Amino acid sequence: MNSSSPPGGAVPEPPLWEQMATDARNAEGERLQKVLARAGFGSRRVCEDLIADGRVTVNGDEAVLGRRVNVEVDEICVDDAPVGILPGLVYYLLNKPEGIVTSALDTHGRETVLDFVPSEPRVFSVGRLDIDTTGLLILTNDGQLTQFLTHPSHGVEKEYIAEVECGQNGVSNGALRTLRDGVELEDGITAPAEVGQLEPGVLRIVIHEGRNRQVRRMCEEVGYPVIRLVRTRIGPLRDTRLAPGQWRELTVDEVRALSSAVDIDALDTM
Ligand code: URA
Repeated sequence: MNSSSPPGGAVPEPPLWEQMATDARNAEGERLQKVLARAGFGSRRVCEDLIADGRVTVNGDEAVLGRRVNVEVDEICVDDAPVGILPGLVYYLLNKPEGIVTSALDTHGRETVLDFVPSEPRVFSVGRLDIDTTGLLILTNDGQLTQFLTHPSHGVEKEYIAEVECGQNGVSNGALRTLRDGVELEDGITAPAEVGQLEPGVLRIVIHEGRNRQVRRMCEEVGYPVIRLVRTRIGPLRDTRLAPGQWRELTVDEVRALSSAVDIDALDTM
């Protein structure tokens, strides 16, 4: 037995200095119910009930009413799911119109996706869409989520509808098979994709990678150049009501769903 263990195997009290440090930390931060309310879990009263019902943990320990937290360091979970939104972080979903560049600053002075959303706080796009591609694009100042979502190994699905040049019979079964199994591109073979032909010449393509002009190059390589390309889904996010050029903030549930869509195992390698 080590010298600090009490006799009889009883759970030891933490040393006084540790309790004091914990108390000091608690005395600092913000009230937990306030943080939860800001993150969208309801009024402070509702959030107090969540805490009282034992549904909230802080750093793995069940939280009690009166608990204070530091959102920069403490991991807060409700029903075991992390509360992911820190103050100051914003998440926009834009339906990118055609002819707009994704880069933050265009050397030719053209309009960019950043011209469509509030300029403060400064945000950046999660990945890119080509100038001629339309559809869903996330803009955020959450660098960590961006890094996770754009990391090729995390496998967040992106769904595209591609209209391609073809004859009356549409895309051949052989070409569809190649698109699904992997297309040999100059930067290597593509990972398996979900590919279906919705009507002759209109493909639904779901990929996990995010290589430059990937869908256009895949279709071109199998003999069916893309005429029109729209991104219709990013992981769990869809929105058929956003018109081109419109944007909205993601809901708390959407940000959490997006974080959950990241392949957590792959994060260990980062
Ligand atoms: N693949 C493309 O070819 N272009 C895009 O904009 C997105 C994916």
